[in-house]
Amino acid sequence: MGSDSTQGSPSTSTTPSPSSKLPLLPWPKRVVAQDGTLNLVDVRLLVSYSQTQTPRLRDAFARLSQTFAGSRGVKVDVHCADEGGRYPELRVAESYRLRVRATGIDIWADTEWGVFNALSTLWQLTAAGPELPCCEIEDEPRFPWRGLLVDVARHYIGMPALRRTIDGMAACKLNVLHLHLTDDQAFRFPSLALPLPDERQYSRRELREIVDYAAMRGVRVVPEIDLPGHCTALLAGHPRLGSQGVERSRRFGVHEGCLDPSRESVYAAIADLLAEVAEVFPDRYLHIGGDEVHPAWWQASPEIVEFMRAGGIADVPALQAQFVNRVAGLVRDLGRVPMGWDEVLHPDLADPMVVQVWRGASARDRALHAGHSCVISANYYLDLFFPADVHYGFDPAAPMTELLAREDALLEDPRLHHIADGMRWTLQWRDDTAVAPNAAKLESGLLGGEACLWSELVTESVLDIRLWTRLPAVAERFWSTAGTRDEADLYLRLDRWVAGLTRSADIDVRASFRERMAAAGVDEPFIALVEMLEPVKWYARLLGDEALSARLSGREMPLARPYDLDSPLDRVVDGLFPESLAVREVAGVCQLVDSGSADARAQLLAMAARWQVLADRGDCPAELVPSATQLGRVAKQLTAYLQGERDAAATLRELRALNEPQGEYVLALVPMLCGWLEQAA
Ligand code: ACM
Repeated sequence: MGSDSTQGSPSTSTTPSPSSKLPLLPWPKRVVAQDGTLNLVDVRLLVSYSQTQTPRLRDAFARLSQTFAGSRGVKVDVHCADEGGRYPELRVAESYRLRVRATGIDIWADTEWGVFNALSTLWQLTAAGPELPCCEIEDEPRFPWRGLLVDVARHYIGMPALRRTIDGMAACKLNVLHLHLTDDQAFRFPSLALPLPDERQYSRRELREIVDYAAMRGVRVVPEIDLPGHCTALLAGHPRLGSQGVERSRRFGVHEGCLDPSRESVYAAIADLLAEVAEVFPDRYLHIGGDEVHPAWWQASPEIVEFMRAGGIADVPALQAQFVNRVAGLVRDLGRVPMGWDEVLHPDLADPMVVQVWRGASARDRALHAGHSCVISANYYLDLFFPADVHYGFDPAAPMTELLAREDALLEDPRLHHIADGMRWTLQWRDDTAVAPNAAKLESGLLGGEACLWSELVTESVLDIRLWTRLPAVAERFWSTAGTRDEADLYLRLDRWVAGLTRSADIDVRASFRERMAAAGVDEPFIALVEMLEPVKWYARLLGDEALSARLSGREMPLARPYDLDSPLDRVVDGLFPESLAVREVAGVCQLVDSGSADARAQLLAMAARWQVLADRGDCPAELVPSATQLGRVAKQLTAYLQGERDAAATLRELRALNEPQGEYVLALVPMLCGWLEQAA
């Protein structure tokens, strides 16, 4: 953890972010604005190295220099004390100092990794325009583990998409790409010991290329092989690893298939597999999954039941703990540190491992109390389509009472109203009986966090749209001081950061959105409608109405779901932003109305009139008709309110009644207006 000792409370060391001046994200630890600017019109960069100079540094500056091909030279002096080692590692020195003067730029860092972070800041400064404001920035991360999990199992994500994702990660100073390589639907690691010839897998060369590409940008790659559950694809190809035969699966949801923990041959096969994984991935950490292990196969197998009886293993969780102990030992034998999802927490877990917390915040303190280190992913699941501020609000190091209060508050959030019952169901995971960790335990055991993008509903073509309007907010939470928590300021910087991403990472989310909409048959004038739509939140899309209501009432969930591997994911709902950027702009106008601006009031009225016209058109794409009708109703209510024909309380009542999804679509305008009127009513 960084040197910020004020986690969980506002930090006095944080410079308030003058977002109107500097579009930096994550916000640095210390920024001192200075007079003057450095003019970058028609310049080329003259990079010189006073100390260490490495191929990696030259490569990074060459990428930056490509965008400056002018005639006037501007000096960039790089003072890098040392190389960073062959690959980035946990807790390498990542701090840097960056000075922009009217005549040139200086960068100081202890290692290449620090220089890369300085470069990401420099990219952000240059994205804002050709006049760099003179400034001095001192920066270091709060947490050493700042990750993104990409599930490449449910849908294959190709090399170009992985490369540009790494570029985007480096642009917001994330430093761990966690590849979820295997699951029920596919096993993408090219094992020689456990070959799956029919599988679409990465080659070893490709995986090594990703590792090297990431290392060139200061990003580690942590592989995950999910065991003993979530492995139907492996079991279908190698039935001797399980206690039953199983077919390949094209559906989603928790599967029953599990490795047989009673057979030595299974551990021998896993040992060979993990050795191959360690050969390809140099990182010290190797993730062995451990989540959502279905008990059915183990309970149904006479051999496994006898194995448990003979070994005095009390129940399935104890059997799983024994399995995890064995496999974690295999990882340690390879000189690596095992990591697992929070289901691995069990009194019988023998040795410390890294626990990845995902089932609500409360597992953090249980993990720390039991002597494990942890990485927090609870409340950073990007596949749930939550708005950026929801993720941003959860501080990995906050006291548990604050985290749980935040989880409770989500149940009352108008934007999540339609899935509040589903989220309430997950409260059964909550176990807040653990002793709160002291500051030293938090400091040493809490490594950081990882945003997760599970890919049941993600393909390459929507990857950028799903990641980049929210991931930078999570990146700031992991990098910046605990006191950096002004949401309005975050959103101001986020918009500009996303726009600048096209330069440093060749990612253009607005263009992606337009492409997806055109492909789904939506064009002007209905872009204005789809810009205000969001997909329904949480697991509502994946579960569908039937499975969701079965889950809520405690009935057996049907296996049939609205989506499986064959669903094309090319409808309007697939290409929507998880959080509407357009509605955020409308929210800004509403705030100006609150501050008494007559112009803003007129602007909002004009918007409502346009929405009404849109709703009344006869040529809306069929799938969007219910949302267009909803928009018309909202426009009517808003107009009546703004014209003084209806008061805030009455309007709020009407809008609350309209705050329901239309199929898989949420008109994000409605909960936003509800939140706005709640303050006035
Ligand atoms: C998980 O989401 N099953 C880790």
